[in-house]
Formats: sequence, structure tokens, C-alpha cells
Amino acid sequence: PEPGWSIAADVVVVGSGVAGLTTALRCEAAGLRTVVVTKARLDDGSTRWAQGGIAAALGEGDTPEQHLEDTLVAGAGLCDEEAVRILVTEGPDAVRRLISTGAHFDTDGEGGIQLTREGGHHRRRIAHAGGDATGAEISRALVEAVRACGLRTIENALVLDLLTDAEGRTTGVSLHVMGEGQHDGVGAVHAPAVVLATGGMGQVFSATTNPSVSTGDGVALALRAGAELSDLEFVQFHPTVLFLGPDAEGQQPLVSEAVRGEGAHLVDADGVRFMAGQHELAELAPRDIVAKGIMRRMQERGAEHMFLDARHFGADMWENRFPTILAACRAHGIDPVTEPIPVAPAAHYASGGVRTDSRGRTTVPGLYACGEVACTGVHGANRLASNSLLEGLVYAERIAADIARGRTEDGLYARVPEPVPYPETPAHPLLAPEDRFTIQRIMTDGAGVLRSARSLQEAADRIQRLHSDARDALEENGKTSEPGVDTWETTNLLCVARVLVAAALLRAETRGCHWREDHAGRDDTDWRRHIVVTLNPDRT
Ligand code: SIN
Repeated sequence: PEPGWSIAADVVVVGSGVAGLTTALRCEAAGLRTVVVTKARLDDGSTRWAQGGIAAALGEGDTPEQHLEDTLVAGAGLCDEEAVRILVTEGPDAVRRLISTGAHFDTDGEGGIQLTREGGHHRRRIAHAGGDATGAEISRALVEAVRACGLRTIENALVLDLLTDAEGRTTGVSLHVMGEGQHDGVGAVHAPAVVLATGGMGQVFSATTNPSVSTGDGVALALRAGAELSDLEFVQFHPTVLFLGPDAEGQQPLVSEAVRGEGAHLVDADGVRFMAGQHELAELAPRDIVAKGIMRRMQERGAEHMFLDARHFGADMWENRFPTILAACRAHGIDPVTEPIPVAPAAHYASGGVRTDSRGRTTVPGLYACGEVACTGVHGANRLASNSLLEGLVYAERIAADIARGRTEDGLYARVPEPVPYPETPAHPLLAPEDRFTIQRIMTDGAGVLRSARSLQEAADRIQRLHSDARDALEENGKTSEPGVDTWETTNLLCVARVLVAAALLRAETRGCHWREDHAGRDDTDWRRHIVVTLNPDRT
């Protein structure tokens, strides 16, 4: 059947965080007919939740070279040095352009940008806004800019699949839209360039800092479209997430690394600072080291969490510098001014994703990826704190430039691609919404902070069973769940869980944020390389 409606454009951007909206604004400014589609509202993605800030060599005495050095060390030997060099050298100007777009950063007494420290950074180089509400300010500024320039946006639009022509070139995306008037139901945006900026996949685990929309949609779509994925095993667990009980599920409140950057201490129940002596930077070691330090201490003490002690900040500093975190703690009955904050690691960031080159191109012609959904190579085995907003900005500008160049250089955009009908019944089965919790539990048990061949194999078997049951039900009696946001999200979560576990099983070493209890150390002879996943077209 024909889709219910269709739109033609030069570029369709899927997602509306820092990566998506920056790409869209730059494409629009280059004269490209641009459409942004987003699963919920424009400001509903992960960007809005970013606290600590955005890293760039903006401070006196700091240089891109030093930022490069810290990024490579955190990435544990797997960063693409060229990709990092692009990030750190183009970063400062990209931040200045973000400021020109309307974002207000906190300033020091002399009107310069105030900078803080976070884990793995040897310098103060994290710009922040509203104290600890950096992402919210960036999101506000970008959404306002998008509205001011009249950019075409469709909200509540869940992307289904990539549309391609007979040569495998991108021709657009199919969408399921709910409650948006003329574009309701299944339809398509036809465009020769598609930019995936769908964010992360934190919801594949039970407890995460990610909002409920972070279900790996872009990674699943890219896999189905035949694109290469890379580094999926490297899921970063943020060390300090407010501990709300062992059974807490879904999005959990983050306690920014900037709190440690300003001098908070990690302590156990006896008040002992256990990170001192483990790393020269103690609480400000790279994130994987701090997360492991906390987990080890929890195991030694049989504890469910550790504590972050910042009582010495005093009420004024808490209220002015960290108002968001203060409010979140108090909402859960904890007052950081008078008591230490219970914290434990939770899933935070996918360092891997859809493999791209330095212009954001994936291995499918016409398909780009930007931000957390992408794997540009800048994060390696462990992302350096606050490099992700920067990556979204820098690579968004590169993608927009590449698309604009494509139009003028090879006439690529002279034609509107042929509409390709979207099949009514998906070739792959849709999972039931309640399977989401089963997937999250399987992943947290088997592929969480601490992994082993046994735990991963068990997770792989259970995930495979869910997949086969759904496939058999479709093949044998045509049964599948009703198409809708929750069934598609659950289906995408199962897809990313499968590839994540497969990659984690294969990497038989401990490196960066991939921690294998059955392989104590890093193995540079066998493992200084990447795991790339693609779909075998003969199998589902
Ligand atoms: C934080 O504020 O701790 C998060 C920063 C980041 O994940 O980059």
C-alpha cells in the first residue's frame, strides 16, 4: 500500500537533540529544504537532561592538544585520533556559534565563560548553563531558533524504517505519526539525505539516566537498513546516579560529575574516601575507573550503594551552582546540604553506534548519523565527560556542510526520489510492550557494569528466545503486536540488546567501560581493534 501521506525534502533529520537541531539549522541556512521529525516533543530527548556541560578548550592556557590527550587516555586505546582532533580543534568555535544561536552559558566575574572540571579532564574546560542545567538551556536555545526560522517539524513521529531505491541509495524514511493533524498515521518523508540523530539506548537497561524515549531506534533502523554498527559493547555507566532502591526502574536522577569537579568526595558507609589511592585523579579519574571503584567497594562491603559527600559546599553553593540536583535529591527526601547522597552507577551513554566517517556518512549511501546514535570514533572504549554535546555540535556542522556540498557538486538533490511504498505488515515481528521490562532485566543481569562470558551467554540465549518466539508467532500464524510507539520501541530495544550482547561476548578483555570479570586486564595484542556488526541479509 501507499503510505497515507508523503512529503518531499532535500534532507530529513530524525531526532531533535543538540545533534539533530544543529544539523537542521545548518542545513536550512544552506538553503536545503529540511524537515525535522521527532518521536515525542522537540525538547524530549537526552540533551535536555545533560547537567555538567560541554567540554572545549576555551580557558586560558588550555589547548585542543591537551583536550585531545585527555580524550585519548579516557578512550583506552580505541579512539580514532583523527576524529578526536576534529572534535577538539573545531569544538571551541562550534561552542561560540552555539552562543550566537542564543544559548546562554554561566559567566565568570569578567564576562568570560565559567569553566568547571569533570572526570578525566586535567583542566577546567567544561562550560555550563543555569549551574547544572546545561542541556536544558541548549535545548531551549535550539528549539527557539528552529521555531524562529520556520523550519518544518513533525512531532510525535516515530521513525519506522529507511526507504532505499534499487541501488541501495537512501530515498527517505517511513514514519508512524500520532495526533499531528494532516500527517497522521503511517507516511513517508522522501529525501535523498537522511540524518539519524535519535540519541542513545539507555532504556535497554533497568536503571538509566536516559529518558524513556532513548530506545535505540536509530541503531535498530540502521541495522535493518544494512548499515555497519561499531563499538556497541562500550556502554558507559555513570558512577553517581541517585540511588532510589535496588528495584528502581527507568530514568534515574543524575548527580553530575561536576559535583565531584567542585570537590565532593566519594565515601563508603564509614565515611572512608575509597577512590584516594586508586588513581592520581581520585574522584576525578575517568568515568569507567570511578564506576569500577564504586562497584568494587559495594561488592567488598555487601552494600547496594556508596555515598557522595558534598555537605561542605554549604547551602548557598548548592542552591546557586547545583539547583537541579538539589531539587531532585530533596524531592526524594535527601538533603545534600546536611547528609551524604546515596549513589550507584547506572547506564548513561552508548559510546558505540552507527559507524560513520569524518563527514558523518554511514556505510549506506545518503544515510548520515550524528550524536549519540553515531560512532564517529571520538569516544573509543570510554567517552570523556562532556564530550558528547560537543560531538553533536561539531559533527552536525560537518554533516550539513557535506549534504550542502553534495547538492552543488554532484547534482544529487536535483531529483525528488521515487516514493517507495511502505509494507503494511513489517517483515520483522513487533514485540509486546511488556517485553520491554523483560529485556531490561535480562540486560541488567547479564550485560550490566560487570560482565562475564557466562552472564553474557545467558543474556544472549534469553534474548534469542524472545526474538524466536516473536518470529515464530508471525511466521506460523501471522500473529504480531499492534503497531504503535511502545511495540516499535520494544522491538528496537530487542534489536540493540542482541547486537550489544553479541559484541560484548566477542570482546574477551576488560577495556574502558567494558568490564569482564573473566578477563581481568586489557589485551593489546588481540584486542586493539573494533567490533563491527552488520545484519546478515539472509537471516532475521
Ligand atoms: C555529568 O554531568 O556528569 C554528565 C556529563 C556527561 O555525561 O558528559
